[in-house]
Amino acid sequence: METAIVIGVGPDRGLGAQLCMRFAAEGMRVLVAGRSRDKLDAVVDRISEAGGSAVAVVADATREDDIQALFDAAGDSLTLAIYNAGNNTPGRIIDMKADYFESSWRVCCFGGFLFGREAVRRMQPQGRGTLLFTGASASLRGRSNFGAFNSSKAALRTLAQAMAKEYGPEGIHVGHVVVDGAIGGEKIMTLLPQYAERLGEDGMIHIEGIVDGFVFLHRQPKRAWTFEIDVRTSKENW
Ligand SMILES: NC(=O)c1ccc[n+]([C@@H]2O[C@H](COP(=O)([O-])OP(=O)(O)OC[C@H]3O[C@@H](n4cnc5c(N)ncnc54)[C@H](OP(=O)(O)O)[C@@H]3O)[C@@H](O)[C@H]2O)c1
Repeated sequence: METAIVIGVGPDRGLGAQLCMRFAAEGMRVLVAGRSRDKLDAVVDRISEAGGSAVAVVADATREDDIQALFDAAGDSLTLAIYNAGNNTPGRIIDMKADYFESSWRVCCFGGFLFGREAVRRMQPQGRGTLLFTGASASLRGRSNFGAFNSSKAALRTLAQAMAKEYGPEGIHVGHVVVDGAIGGEKIMTLLPQYAERLGEDGMIHIEGIVDGFVFLHRQPKRAWTFEIDVRTSKENW
């Protein structure tokens, strides 16, 4: 059985959880990784109930030891690794504490380096594997009030691009998914209900549609690889 790792897994109707569920449904054993044990266990239970295979691994994406242990747990059957951690960090630059900026960079960029490096180290001997990163509108555009998040997501994107060029010739497919807008999931609906109401259902990106993009990238044959796809609603003003 092939193994997938997804790091940055939260609530059931979040992108991380939905990626785990889809790849488990596709027949992979999934390591469900993130910081909150209760949320991970809930995702594993859902997968098990549906007849799939999954294991919860508590790991902080910014801690080197945690990431090495996570990849040790995957073993030799690792074929897919997804870096999905990256909570938004709003705030005006002039008011921003230095450690706030740095912690945003640690989750959105540095963690991607630790995760990507470990994935490539494990995939290289097999000469195959897929490594995917979750991006945002912030990956492509600087915007007022989001300087910390924009700069770290943009750095993650160019890191991913560098890795794609460095390890593509060795059979490792590195890809990046730009989620250009609000996801119609738990985070926006529960934490920002008024924003969700303003956007309306048609103004929020369909999670399953984003997950389809990850599946598409992972299933591409070696002679027709895509580095990046972007996903937005028809209403997005971009
Ligand atoms: N939600 C949106 O509207 C939106 C829009 C565009 C792009 N995105 C991108 O999509 C991805 C997340 O999707 P989502 O918003 O639906 O959230 P999600 O996938 O439901 O959850 C992401 C999880 O990442 C975890 N995480 C944060 N820092 C971490 C760390 N240091 N180590 C391990 N896990 C960590 C959080 O765990 P805790 O529960 O422990 O905090 C959170 O639950 C992010 O990359 C985000 O930038 C989201």
